Amino acid sequence: MSDSNTILKIDDLHTHYDTPQGTVRAVAGTSLEVHRGETVGIVGESGCGKSVMLRSILRIVPHPGRIIGGSIEFTRRDGETVDMVKLDPNSRKIRSIRGDEIAMIFQEPMSSLSPVHTIGDQIIEAIVLHKSVSNTEARSIAIEMLGKVAMPRPEQIVDQYPHEISGGMRQRAMIAMALSCEPRLLIADEPTTALDVTTQAQILDLMRRLQSEFNMAIMFVTHDLGVVAQMTEHVVVMYMGQVVEAGSVKELFTAPRHPYTHGLLHSIPRLGQRKLGRRLVSIKGSVPDPFARPSGCPFHTRCQYNDGDRCVREEPALREVMPGHSARCHYAETLGLQGVDKPAEAINA
Ligand SMILES: Nc1ncnc2c1ncn2[C@@H]1O[C@H](COP(=O)(O)OP(=O)(O)OP(=O)(O)O)[C@@H](O)[C@H]1O
Ligand SMILES: [Mg+2]
Repeated sequence: MSDSNTILKIDDLHTHYDTPQGTVRAVAGTSLEVHRGETVGIVGESGCGKSVMLRSILRIVPHPGRIIGGSIEFTRRDGETVDMVKLDPNSRKIRSIRGDEIAMIFQEPMSSLSPVHTIGDQIIEAIVLHKSVSNTEARSIAIEMLGKVAMPRPEQIVDQYPHEISGGMRQRAMIAMALSCEPRLLIADEPTTALDVTTQAQILDLMRRLQSEFNMAIMFVTHDLGVVAQMTEHVVVMYMGQVVEAGSVKELFTAPRHPYTHGLLHSIPRLGQRKLGRRLVSIKGSVPDPFARPSGCPFHTRCQYNDGDRCVREEPALREVMPGHSARCHYAETLGLQGVDKPAEAINA
């Protein structure tokens, strides 16, 4: 529910790609809210629109993608609420929000680090752009931030180039840069997928610590439900550009209301089974062709509860089934889907 703690409110967002083959409705009516200091996990199979939705927030959707409807209200530090959709993506206003109040980190650190500048120069540039400090002050903030992200020898790393340090260190440098302006909202698009398990655990731990220090909200995309259970309080499940279920981690894991979420939970190995990896891979069937969106409920082609009638004809709305828990299924109240006993089970799987 929208209240004074809401810092981001996306309402019925549509972002499309017009291609010679037709229109891809990458984001097809997404609505969600993020509150101050909260971590929201975003999950869904590859291609469901997670990255396009996140890029829409910052207005960095690459051509030919464009937002064709909906609103993205962001509440700024000074209390002003702006609709990001209405801003010119090159305006001074949006540039003062990007990187300063909302920062984004990507799966691949080189998409935000420049290969031809030192780590320090890049962090310093970000700081000087948004804060009124001298270069010398910015340099000490940069070193301090590198220390906070547990970078070894920050005083030396600050003068090195990205190619001179390891992948895990580059990831830390990117996080240091993103956090150097103390954003209100950090958008993390699979920030640890490319890392080994030990480094991933360290980075997640670090993000949690920094989050409580800065009281920032995090939107966190991951394919790993163990990471969701460990990192987030609230989960948003996406399918074909829409939110199909949203609620607290505990509710979603123990009592899912949408057959798709149920499928995701049961596509990970349970305790006592052989460890097979935890990526979301084994839901029956595959995501439909984005150019041929199914009628009615977009999930009906893969849903074992498809009634062959209403599910095929009528698109369900996202509606609240319990306070703070919503689902987009005609039968959300009646299916009685099984969850996992404890979210922690997914972590230990
Ligand atoms: N440049 C483009 N041209 C046409 N379609 C695109 C383009 N970029 C993305 N799309 C489409 O938009 C949809 C959503 O893509 P998006 O990258 O948001 O998925 P995702 O959920 O982030 O997937 P992943 O988990 O693999 O990162 C996909 O169907 C994709 O094919
Ligand atoms: Mg993506």
